[in-house]
Amino acid sequence: MADAIQFRWREQLDDSQLVTLTLSHGGNAEPGWWNQIRRHSLGWVSAHTGGRVLIGFANVAWDGGDHAFLLDPKVHADYQRRGIGTELVRRCEQAARDAGCSWLHVDFRPELRPFYFQACGFRATDAGLIDLSG
Ligand SMILES: CC(C)(COP(=O)(O)OP(=O)(O)OC[C@H]1O[C@@H](n2cnc3c(N)ncnc32)[C@H](O)[C@@H]1OP(=O)(O)O)[C@@H](O)C(=O)NCCC(=O)NCCS
Repeated sequence: MADAIQFRWREQLDDSQLVTLTLSHGGNAEPGWWNQIRRHSLGWVSAHTGGRVLIGFANVAWDGGDHAFLLDPKVHADYQRRGIGTELVRRCEQAARDAGCSWLHVDFRPELRPFYFQACGFRATDAGLIDLSG
């Protein structure tokens, strides 16, 4: 099904396109978010229908060495469960490999285990987290 969709690496995206995409799946869209984080990205994969219409996105952050970090994969609510998210992640994985990375990290909510472990091929590992926001 993802065949009819165009996938692009480091396509120029507007902040407003990311806001619209995030709102489509009920996410918390923060205007200015993309303009702020883009400069810290190794790259990003976007999915489009009909020219520039953005229906999917995933970002790859980087430590400048071996480690890449998959962040914020999202698919428009009207296009979910068609394999687009899996293809976004596959392309992020390939781009990180092409950049010389050895590891692609991700974390996620428990209900998304089938997506990351079965569909995308991540394996479980020990990881740690500190909530700095409080
Ligand atoms: C998570 C997300 C990116 C998946 O994109 P998608 O294009 O719908 O995923 P795919 O169609 O490639 O899914 C492949 C498989 O992963 C699993 N999967 C996908 N979404 C899932 C979900 N929400 N819950 C549990 N399993 C899921 C299913 O096994 C699915 O196969 P199936 O449709 O045959 O059952 C999408 O649901 C999304 O944008 N969610 C909102 C934003 C979000 O939570 N992003 C993740 C941040 S960590």
